[in-house]
Amino acid sequence: MAKQQKPATRAVRIQTTKTSQKEHSSPVFLTSSFTYDSAEEMAAAFATETPEVNIYSRFANPGVDEFVHKMIALEGAEHGVATGTGMAAIFSTFMTFLSKGDHIISASAVFGSTHTILTRYLPKWGIDYSYFDMNKPEAIEALVKPETRMLYLETPSNPGLDIIDLAFVSAICKKHNILFVVDNCFATPAVQQPIQYGADLVIHSATKFIDGQGRVLGGVIVGKKELVHQLYLFIRNTGPSMSPFNAWVLSKSLETLFIRMDRHAASALSIATKLQGHAKISTVKYPFLESHPQYAIAKKQMSNGGGIVTFELKGGIESGRKFLNALEMISMTNNLGDSRTIASHPASTTHSKLTEAERQSVGITPGLIRVSVGLEDADDILDDLLQALDKS
Ligand SMILES: Cc1ncc(COP(=O)(O)O)c(C=O)c1O
Repeated sequence: MAKQQKPATRAVRIQTTKTSQKEHSSPVFLTSSFTYDSAEEMAAAFATETPEVNIYSRFANPGVDEFVHKMIALEGAEHGVATGTGMAAIFSTFMTFLSKGDHIISASAVFGSTHTILTRYLPKWGIDYSYFDMNKPEAIEALVKPETRMLYLETPSNPGLDIIDLAFVSAICKKHNILFVVDNCFATPAVQQPIQYGADLVIHSATKFIDGQGRVLGGVIVGKKELVHQLYLFIRNTGPSMSPFNAWVLSKSLETLFIRMDRHAASALSIATKLQGHAKISTVKYPFLESHPQYAIAKKQMSNGGGIVTFELKGGIESGRKFLNALEMISMTNNLGDSRTIASHPASTTHSKLTEAERQSVGITPGLIRVSVGLEDADDILDDLLQALDKS
């Protein structure tokens, strides 16, 4: 058997079969549907319920397939399916595997729209949820009920950068026969592969580091074959499918994922280290800083610390506003995982409508600044942060 290529090679080399034009780089398969040479061939295509046969781009598309196959290879999964956004991937996962009367256990520190689905929509359909604190994994098992079907978390979490031991949580899920679902958006498969630690399904907002240049939306779910097949049928029939154009962009982006994540992480670690002890900052958080509360776990399950750094301004909300207004190069936007460095202040922007207590419960403190470290020269990023800190 030929030697298995390394993930970084597969991210570059997995490609759709060449067309008769013998192109080197995959084309965009911008087509809604596919044709047949005979009525019999068409009938046979409709008899299948798998993405292997091209029928209609809501069901399958060669470019989307290329993107999914790269993600399968990078995450070490059996199968995968793409969606139009990260939220479509999360919502499709909940809808496919949860029914009326079921219960889901989730980390309380999850992305805002995921929190909205859990707290506002799932209860409407008779699906109950319980939250656990990422910093108290020992409390998870007590939340398991006979109706518990799924355990959901992000590690590192958005925006608090909390980290949890995937192998520890996976053991609880296996013991109680619960599906273990991990949002791996912050780490990317270049840094962490949750399936290796026992996750059943891994979800991504491909909009973030997978695109890496802030251009398109996308989502993907990879994992066990029989689970992904159920997801595939849900997505094929209900329609949150990925656009072929976005798949083309995202597949090209994966070619540079490893090299980009190395650079994001090297700059992030250097910036986080240099910000420690700054007079205006009380704490700096980064997975690969020894001061991170779960540093040992981060070192065990991540190959680098990723591209996100957070810090707490001593001056709280008002300092946060001043800091954002003083930035000269760094972008003020709510995306992350871009080649351009981005800073955000959740308390005065994305989470301003929450009460102080609600913000605290999801780890958003008044002076929390989240920096998505981009691909500019690290010295320029640090200079901009330092001059804005002076004015905060
Ligand atoms: C951790 C995490 N999961 C999911 C999402 C949702 O992804 P999308 O915006 O692609 O729907 C985001 C978006 O910021 C995120 O940060």
